[in-house]
Amino acid sequence: MIGRINHVAIAVPDVEAAARQWETGLCAVCSLPQSLPDHGVRVVFVDQPNAKVELMEPLGGNSPIAAFLDRNPAGGMHHICYEVADIRAARDHLVASGARVLGDGEPMSGAHGTPVLFLHPKDFYGTLIELEEVRD
Ligand code: CO
Repeated sequence: MIGRINHVAIAVPDVEAAARQWETGLCAVCSLPQSLPDHGVRVVFVDQPNAKVELMEPLGGNSPIAAFLDRNPAGGMHHICYEVADIRAARDHLVASGARVLGDGEPMSGAHGTPVLFLHPKDFYGTLIELEEVRD
């Protein structure tokens, strides 16, 4: 069901500082920071040939990553995003298998404008999984 890894998202306290670290230490090519107010994050995309890394800093008063950074003030891996061809079919399969979908279970528009869902981390060994519908 799952396709390629679309991105790995890392929560950081300072997205500029994190981007500098990726650029100077790993010689990565980073985007300029982009504010995504609808998603409560400021992000830098690190482009790789096979997937992206997204460095995310909280934006605004009720950022969805604020609680994560409270628990992990230095930052940490926040979620991994897999591509799926049909997100509702993937959701139905997951729910039938006993996994929990966060929110009301309906796909929402993600950071790339495509439909996304998140799965309960307790169902995947502490890892928050995002599914993103990507049609070829
Ligand atoms: Co994501």
